[in-house]
Amino acid sequence: MGFSHLYLGWRRVNSFRTVHPLEADLNYVTVARLSEVPSGQTLWVKPTRHDRLVLCNVGGAIYAIADACSHKGGMLRFGKLDGQQIVCPLHGACFDVSTGAVVTPPATVGIRTYPVRVLGDEIQVGLEE
Ligand code: FES
Repeated sequence: MGFSHLYLGWRRVNSFRTVHPLEADLNYVTVARLSEVPSGQTLWVKPTRHDRLVLCNVGGAIYAIADACSHKGGMLRFGKLDGQQIVCPLHGACFDVSTGAVVTPPATVGIRTYPVRVLGDEIQVGLEE
């Protein structure tokens, strides 16, 4: 199986980048097929018992974010994806899905993002082992 296209995302919190775990420490898990996340749409996935993620397709680029708003834990799977930003359904905080950075309060801390790669039709997310 070859790499048809590859995207590696980086976790960021607000304006500073957190240290990403080494690639060797990541376990890439297939979480969905590309056809399940059309452009402009999101998909909720639960790759492990503890990880709940939201895949976001922004113009063909796939991003993975935690399904938990940093303000009061709102489920971002019910948020509205508006371009590269997702709006929390509870109080309206807005986050950049490519970095996790806060765009609009009341949240003041960014959300977690996960590395993503696409192999053929498979969307894989890098989880720490
Ligand atoms: S829980 Fe998301 S803005 Fe309050």
